[in-house]
Formats: sequence, C-alpha cells, structure tokens
Amino acid sequence: MLNLPLTWVYVICVVFTFLCEFSIAGPFLANPRDASSSSTTFGPVSLALGTGPLYPTNSFRSFQLTSTQPVATLDYGHEVAGYPIFDIAAITGKVQIEVKYTEPFAGLSQPFSDGPYPYAVTLSNSYRVETFEVTKAGPLQAYLLQGGQRWQSIRLLTNGTITFSNVGFKASISMVDVGDLPGSFESDNELLNKVWELGARAVSAACVEKGTQKAIWEVSGDGAFVTGMRPGLSAKAATLKDYTLEFDVKIERAGMGWAVAFPLAYPGQGIQLDIVGELPGEATFVNTNTSLTPANSILLGYGYSFVNQTTLTSYHLDTFKIPFSVHEQTWYTLKTVLSSGQYLAVFVNGTKAFNTSLADYYIGGSSISTIGSFGFGGWQDQSSYIKNVIAYDTANGTILYSNPMTDPNVVLPEYGVHENYASVCLDGAKRDRLVWLGDFYHTAKIIAASTSRFDLVKGTLQYFLDWQRPNGLLPYDPPMGYDHSIADEAFSIGGGGALAGLEVYGVSLPDYQILGLKAFTDYVSQSNDLSWTRATWPKWQLQVNWLLSQINSTTGLLSMTGFAILGPTNGGSAISCALLEALNNVALVATALNDTRSAAKYQTASTSLSTAINKLLWDDELGIYSLSPSSPNDYSVAGLSFCITSGAANATQTARSLSALSALKLGPGYKDSTQINSSDPTVNLSPNTNGFLLAALLSQNATNDSATALELITSLWGAMLSNNETNSGASWEYVDQQGNPGLSLFTSLSHPWGGAPTYILTQYAAGIQQAGGVAGFGHGNWVINPSAGLAMGLKKASAKVVTAFGGNLEVQWKVSGEGVLSVTIKSPRATSGVFELNGTQKVLRGSDEYAFTVKVQ
Ligand SMILES: *[C@@H]1O[C@H](CO)[C@@H](O)[C@H](O)[C@H]1NC(C)=O
Ligand SMILES: *[C@@H]1O[C@H](CO)[C@@H](O)[C@H](O)[C@H]1NC(C)=O
Ligand SMILES: *[C@@H]1O[C@H](CO)[C@@H](O)[C@H](O)[C@H]1NC(C)=O
Ligand SMILES: *[C@@H]1O[C@H](CO)[C@@H](O)[C@H](O)[C@H]1NC(C)=O
Ligand SMILES: *[C@@H]1O[C@H](CO)[C@@H](O)[C@H](O)[C@H]1NC(C)=O
Ligand SMILES: *[C@@H]1O[C@H](CO)[C@@H](O)[C@H](O)[C@H]1NC(C)=O
Ligand SMILES: *[C@@H]1O[C@H](CO)[C@@H](O)[C@H](O)[C@H]1NC(C)=O
Ligand SMILES: *[C@@H]1O[C@H](CO)[C@@H](O)[C@H](O)[C@H]1NC(C)=O
Ligand SMILES: *[C@@H]1O[C@H](CO)[C@@H](O)[C@H](O)[C@H]1NC(C)=O
Ligand SMILES: *[C@@H]1O[C@H](CO)[C@@H](O)[C@H](O)[C@H]1NC(C)=O
Ligand SMILES: *[C@@H]1O[C@H](CO)[C@@H](O)[C@H](O)[C@H]1NC(C)=O
Repeated sequence: MLNLPLTWVYVICVVFTFLCEFSIAGPFLANPRDASSSSTTFGPVSLALGTGPLYPTNSFRSFQLTSTQPVATLDYGHEVAGYPIFDIAAITGKVQIEVKYTEPFAGLSQPFSDGPYPYAVTLSNSYRVETFEVTKAGPLQAYLLQGGQRWQSIRLLTNGTITFSNVGFKASISMVDVGDLPGSFESDNELLNKVWELGARAVSAACVEKGTQKAIWEVSGDGAFVTGMRPGLSAKAATLKDYTLEFDVKIERAGMGWAVAFPLAYPGQGIQLDIVGELPGEATFVNTNTSLTPANSILLGYGYSFVNQTTLTSYHLDTFKIPFSVHEQTWYTLKTVLSSGQYLAVFVNGTKAFNTSLADYYIGGSSISTIGSFGFGGWQDQSSYIKNVIAYDTANGTILYSNPMTDPNVVLPEYGVHENYASVCLDGAKRDRLVWLGDFYHTAKIIAASTSRFDLVKGTLQYFLDWQRPNGLLPYDPPMGYDHSIADEAFSIGGGGALAGLEVYGVSLPDYQILGLKAFTDYVSQSNDLSWTRATWPKWQLQVNWLLSQINSTTGLLSMTGFAILGPTNGGSAISCALLEALNNVALVATALNDTRSAAKYQTASTSLSTAINKLLWDDELGIYSLSPSSPNDYSVAGLSFCITSGAANATQTARSLSALSALKLGPGYKDSTQINSSDPTVNLSPNTNGFLLAALLSQNATNDSATALELITSLWGAMLSNNETNSGASWEYVDQQGNPGLSLFTSLSHPWGGAPTYILTQYAAGIQQAGGVAGFGHGNWVINPSAGLAMGLKKASAKVVTAFGGNLEVQWKVSGEGVLSVTIKSPRATSGVFELNGTQKVLRGSDEYAFTVKVQ
C-alpha cells in the first residue's frame, strides 16, 4: 500500500494561513478540522479517467477533469477511513463535483453509491455521495467522515475544469499496515496468509480511538449547524407523546430534515420530515434530485429514510407543497403538531403546510405512533441552522422541553453528535457503527492475535459498563456520541418504541449478554490485566447474576425471552452452551482475583448447566444437541460449536455432532441451522457463526476435522478475496451462496465478526495457544501445537503474539527433509510452556529461545 503523504498541505496551512481558507460554499466554510495537527493520510494507489466509473489500473498522479473526461475513479487498494481531502491545483469556470465512496466497486454505478446508511447516527456521513461547489484552488476537506471504503469516484458536474494534485482521506483510524502489526501469521499457504489479514484489517478499521470521530454538528450563538444526515435525536424527549415541536430554521443549502415520534432504540420506527427550500438556481447543486426533493415542499416519510436501502425499510408517504417560496439564508419558524395519537400537522411561519391523519398511510400493516423523540438532520447535501427548540403538550400547552440550541456542551451530548467519548470497537467500519456487544466476541480475540490494541478492548468493555443498567444488563449496541449519563436510561427502556417500559436489553438480543461476557473473560485471560478487572469486578458479577437468574429452575436450561442471533431463547442449545463456556471462563477470572467464593459459585452453576444440557438437549439417537427442547430434531452451527468448545460434549458426542455437520453445508459454508431452507436462494452464510465452528473443529486435534476447517476457510473466506471488485482486504458481514456479499451493496465489507480465522490460524495453524487455567493468562504459560497446521498440509508456519510478560511469543516451524520438523520458539524468559505434537511433549522453560527438531510422518 502506497501512502501519499499530504503533510505539506498542513505545513502550508500553518505557515500561510490565508492560503487555506476553505474554498467551498455552505457547510464547508465551517472550521477545517484541526488541519494542522495530522500528517496521516490514506492516499489512492491507482486512478482511471473516463466518462464513467472505470476499474483503475494506472498509478495515481495529478489529474484534470473536463467535460469530455468528467469522471475519475480512485482505488485505495483496501479498506481505508477518514475525512475526505482534495488538493485542487487549478479550476476554470463553474465547478461542482459529485464524490462517491464505496466498499464494493459496483457502488460507483449506483445513484446513492453503496448507501445511504440511516440506521443510526454514526459520527460519519449518512450518505455515500456528496457534492461540492469549488470556487478556487487550494486544499479542501469534507466536513463529514467516511467510515470505510476502498473506492472513490469524482465526477465533474458542470462545464468548468478542475485539476487535482492530490486526493485522499485524513485518517480517522490507525494507519499501521497489517504487515507491520505486533501480531502476525505467515505460512506457505498464500491464501491463508491473506485470510489472516482480513480480520486484522477489519479490527484496524472498526476500532477507533477516543475523540477521533469528531462531533458532526457545530453549535454556536447562531444555533446548531446541521448537515444532511439521519436525524440526531434528543435523548431527553424519548417518552414524549402528542406534543407540539417548534423551532427556528435557516436553510443554508437546499433543505432540512427532522424527525418526530421517533423511538431512540428502534431506529426504523418513526416519522421523517424534510423541508425543501426554493432551490435557487446559482446556489443549487445541479445534481439535486427535484423529483425526490421538489422546491418549496415538505416530504413525509416513515422508517429509516425516504429511500429504501436493502434491509432498512423506508416509506416515502407524501409530498406537500408549501404555498410560498422558502428562501435560503432566512429564518422560519416550523411548528409540528402531533395530536390524539393520530394527527400530524406542520406550519411554516404560521401558514399551514398540511394537516393529515397518520392512519391514512400504509406502513406495512402497523400504525404510525405519536410517541417518541424528535431530532434534526437532512437529506443528502442539505444543511441548515436550527435554534430555539421547544416542545409542549398539544392538548394542554404544558412546556415539556426547551433548548436554545446555542451551547455545544448541552446540545452535542444530548443529540448523540458529540465526538466519540471512548476508544471503542464498532461492528463495522462503514455501516451501523454502533458498539455492538455480541460482535465484540470475535473482535476481542482478533485484536489479541493481530493489532494487540488491548487499550481498545478495555475501552470498549468499560464503555459497556458505563452504560450498564442497575440490574446488571449491558446495552447491546450503545452509540458513540451520546453522553451515557443523559441517554442510558432512555435507550434501555426502548426510547418510546413498541416495547416502551420494558428493559429492552433483556429481551432484544439477550444472547449478546453472554457473548459480551465472553469478550470480557477473553480480555482478562489474554491481557492478564487484573487491576482493571478487580476494579470493575462487581459490575461483571452483577451481569453474571442477571444471566444466572435466567436459568429455569425446573429445567436447569437458560431460558430467556425475545430474539437472539444465536437461536432459540427458551432453552436453546446455543445460548445454554455459550453460557456454560462463559461461566467456566468467568470462574477462572474469579480464581485469578482470589475470589474463591465466586469461583465456586460459577463452577457449581456450570456443572448443573452442563448436566441439564446433556440431559435435555443431547439426542443420543440422532447424535446431536437439539436446537431447543421444542425443536428436538433440529440443530445449529452455533449450538454444536458452543456445546463442543464449552466442554459439554464428551469425545463421542463431539465426533457425532461434527459428523452431523454435513447436513448444514450450503454454498461456500454452513447455514445457521437445519431449520433454514437450503433451496431458498436468498439465504446467506454467516462468517460470524461459521467462525464459532472453526474453533469447534480445530479444538479436536483431529486430522479430518482440520481438513474440514481448511476447506471452510478456503471456500467461505476465500470468497472475500477472490473478486477484485468486492475484496476490501477485510472480513465481511455476510456471504451469499455464490460467494458474493450477502446483503448486496449494503453488506459491511469490513466487519470484525466475520474475521475469526485471524485468531484461529494463529492458535491452530501456527499452533500458539495459552495454556489452560490462570497460569495461561497473558501467555504466561503456553502450548505450541502445530498438529492442525500440519493436517492442513502446511510445510511451514510462523506466528507472533504479544504476551503480558514483557515481550512476544513467537514460533516458527518448518518441515524439512524427510519428515523432520524444525521448530524455533522465542518467548520472554518469565514465561514457560510445552511443545506438543502427536504424543510428543517437550517442556520449555528458563530460556528466551528454544530450537529443536521432531520427527513427523
Ligand atoms: C457553461 O456554463 C456557463 C455558466 O454557467 C454557461 O453560461 C454556459 O452556457 C455553459 N456552457 C455549456 C456548453 O453548457
Ligand atoms: C430521483 O429520486 C426518485 C425518487 O426517489 C428516483 O426514482 C430517481 O431514480 C432519482 N433520480 C436520480 C437521477 O437519482
Ligand atoms: C421498501 O421495501 C419494502 C420491502 O423491503 C417494501 O415493502 C416497501 O414498499 C418499500 N418502500 C418503498 C417506499 O419503496
Ligand atoms: C418568519 O417569522 C419570523 C418571526 O417568527 C420572522 O423573523 C421571519 O422574517 C419570517 N420569515 C419570513 C420569510 O417571513
Ligand atoms: C398536561 O399534559 C402533561 C402530559 O403531557 C401532563 O403531565 C400534565 O399533568 C398536564 N397538565 C395539565 C394542567 O393538565
Ligand atoms: C421453566 O420450564 C418449564 C418447563 O418447560 C416451564 O413449564 C416453565 O414455565 C418455565 N418457567 C419459567 C419461569 O419460564
Ligand atoms: C492472589 O493470592 C496470591 C497468594 O496469596 C497472591 O500471590 C496474588 O497476588 C493474589 N492475586 C491477586 C490478583 O490479588
Ligand atoms: C459421552 O456421553 C454419552 C451421552 O451421555 C454417553 O452415552 C457416553 O458414554 C459418553 N462417552 C464417554 C466416553 O464418556
Ligand atoms: C488437543 O491438544 C491440546 C494441546 O495442544 C490439548 O490440550 C487438548 O486436550 C487436545 N484435545 C483433544 C480433544 O484431544
Ligand atoms: C485483480 O487484481 C490482480 C492483482 O492486483 C490483478 O492481477 C488482476 O488483473 C485484477 N483483475 C481484474 C479483473 O482487474
Ligand atoms: C501422528 O501419529 C499418527 C499415528 O501414530 C500418524 O498417522 C500421523 O501421521 C502422525 N501425525 C504427524 C503430524 O506426525
């Protein structure tokens, strides 16, 4: 990867400030984001020039766009993230450029590229297409972050010309190349080496340091400056209903969006509104879609947005004409009235724009509620100022909310648009970008094997604890930009949604509580960070207690309610066995802390849970762990995997379970369960659940299971590498049966939950493992066992991990000559371990380097 440093731009800006006035109109006159402080920039590797998007093959260089050659396509080689920057050497005539960002190449041919992403406020641009008016030469920086992309296109929309000397992204993530990470893996199988990099790159792009994802509103005496985005919602208005919302708005460009009756925690269940101004000729972008956003109108929508994007159902319900021209740069008062659980009216400076019954609109069967928060945003390329927000009870006029919107310390934390409060790992680089609790299971393990950024793992775990509820529950996807002390309660009760009043964390993805607990125990055992663990231990115990309280005292199985990613919540084998594994691990953590009472309590709970699992879920006739007591003949990848890795299964049960796997084979991987219809072409493969399976297969030291694991890695993860147009160099969220991104353009192509092979290859193909028990924490005691790597046909492998004992643990092995395996192991002298292979055992201690040979067949 070639990085073209733009350091000089910033040097020039510091020394000759007058040269660096940002040269675009509207939002981009706002503060350049500390352009002086950073010299870290992702630069494109290659470039193509033409009349549309073209696969780039020429090295990147300075280039000009003209009306005969209006489009540049740029390839960054792999996933990158940051604030888009452009160095404009010269312009002539009128210049507007439309810039697209995308993970798959195909996004460049779509009107909205691979977006929009209205799922959440993510401290990045909700849109993947943005337009700039360029009025002079010099550096230009987009205001909003683009969280993850390999490709970019720049289209000249007008008949001037523009010459770029450089283009890139001011990095918002670590720029360390995957080849230079503290953890590493290499073998004589080139595909496996590339697969290892997928997870490493995904965690590099999705884990962000505190303060790197900047605030996305600018708040001053003029009000809140809000650019086009999914509305940022007030955390203080979650439970309001049938209210009247009034505020002043000044459109800077094109229009302004707002949401009402919008539940905080259910991002697709609220009312969307957008006011479009008069769209004055000169100041309006020529690519404005005036059939979607006609001048002097108000759009009414429901759901995530006004346009449907794959899984984000959106309803554009109506467009109302405003009976006068709405000028830009002019203040108007907008009044939005919700009443009687059914009616919605909007007034612009006292003139009625519409008054409608929400019951008249079809939103897929349910009805539109008038309960929930409000917030501000806008359609693509819109921007506006908002101030003097008040809300009052429509029926009796009682003031319920009031905010002048002029104090950033008040506004940013409440509307979720503050820069990221903590170092956290997101579920994906480009999309959703919330701190998902369950996804963190694989993320934490991948980090330990690759970036070794334990600070980011600890930051993420601490962030969950910051949002923890008094009953111990952790949030399943806290956002980065809300102050938890304002927002945690509103989010936990559903924020006015359909489940209002319930503790949603206990019923929405309750299995994520288990996966999050596993991430905690993995962090402790990998980092040996016992002082932070001791400081936060009561909070984790509270969470374990909540989980234990969900065990049905009659059956002894874990019985939760609601929807879980791992499968059935009432006595399901996957959740029960995952909890079993978590309990075994948390008992070890208790032991490490000398909390013997808790250790005994968790151990006892583990023993009875294991007994219940084998009694009620093991089907000795079929040789499987049943999906759940009510689906005895079905089974799942997650269930059989966790029942094996948790130790619930004995050797016979393990072997029989794994031989039942073939019924789940589908396309390049394994479908989630036998209940999934294999002849449905829309069924996707999950690298998340297939990642659980890899650990189960390889934990057996069995040649045939290792071969199955190799086949799975080659087919499922190989698919992520095989096509230049979809290869982001990072692991994917879903894969379809043909090996393409499973959710088409929407698919996150940099999703750590899909990156399990990174730690699996280090642990099993190279063979670096922690020894069992507390002694193995931080790799103080280790095992080197290359049997799976040899069974995969590798002739050599090397890997490295960072230990908690002042140095790396590194192994290199190579089959040389006639069946001789030469092994070199380096480790901090304070650690010790064993080398194991096929019955051979060598105890290694007292040195920092060991070299020996063993015979292999
Ligand atoms: C180019 O733009 C100018 C200014 O907008 C306009 O007067 C002229 O007609 C345009 N020429 C063409 C060929 O579109
Ligand atoms: C403009 O928006 C309409 C309505 O969403 C859509 O059907 C049309 O494809 C859009 N046109 C362009 C050029 O994007
Ligand atoms: C959006 O897609 C859903 C199905 O996913 C469909 O039911 C709905 O009608 C679509 N809405 C619009 C506005 O196209
Ligand atoms: C709208 O009303 C405000 C006062 O509420 C006034 O300052 C403003 O000039 C009005 N705008 C227009 C365009 O009449
Ligand atoms: C007005 O309505 C609010 C609920 O929005 C209620 O709490 C309050 O008691 C009502 N006040 C009067 C005077 O009826
Ligand atoms: C526990 O499981 C039994 C047997 O399935 C069931 O009848 C009972 O309702 C469950 N209890 C709770 C509290 O869910
Ligand atoms: C646990 O106890 C042992 C022996 O008393 C002591 O060496 C160790 O430091 C203690 N560990 C912690 C984390 O307190
Ligand atoms: C494993 O468990 C099964 C089912 O409980 C039992 O029949 C079998 O004897 C056990 N095998 C071993 C080796 O313990
Ligand atoms: C596989 O080998 C490891 C040592 O590397 C050992 O701890 C484990 O018990 C073995 N597993 C089985 C199922 O034999
Ligand atoms: C894909 O990339 C490889 C390596 O960069 C290159 O050799 C190959 O030609 C590319 N294929 C296409 C279709 O561009
Ligand atoms: C391990 O031993 C078995 C039987 O003794 C043999 O078949 C197998 O090839 C050996 N594996 C290696 C890696 O030496």
